[in-house]
Amino acid sequence: ESTPIAVACDHGGFELKQMLVGHLKAEGHVVLDLGTDSTDSVDYPEFGYAMAEAIRDGKATRGLLICGSGIGISIAANRHPEVRAAVVHDGLGARLCRQHNDANVICFGGRLIGPEVALDCLNIFLETTFEGGRHARRVDKLSKPR
Ligand code: RB5
Repeated sequence: ESTPIAVACDHGGFELKQMLVGHLKAEGHVVLDLGTDSTDSVDYPEFGYAMAEAIRDGKATRGLLICGSGIGISIAANRHPEVRAAVVHDGLGARLCRQHNDANVICFGGRLIGPEVALDCLNIFLETTFEGGRHARRVDKLSKPR
């Protein structure tokens, strides 16, 4: 895929981010790495917002976010209507967030998920298409919060 996959994390996700970026690049993906670049403590909203800007500005169509739990950084990213970020813990969640929710960002808890499960989830997320149909109406509504 020529469009970059954006990745961002806080200190709690740095180690897993480095591992997954290596896999993405080895598989030929272009990676837009938005940081963080070390295990020094940082604030996850900054990185969730950086992801949302990259998606909004068309610099990437898919994203990967990692913090300690996956939760804080997903909340930050999901404050932006262009983002549909899903915290995922297993392959079924990775498949369903694409098929039903057209999720464009996958989020992991670097302190919760094992590296092999995370890689499996990421691959499923990237390979699975949105089913559309009845789900399209619901996903459209997500872009127009009241
Ligand atoms: C940082 O210690 C931790 O709070 C953060 O990585 C994340 O888990 C927040 O949701």
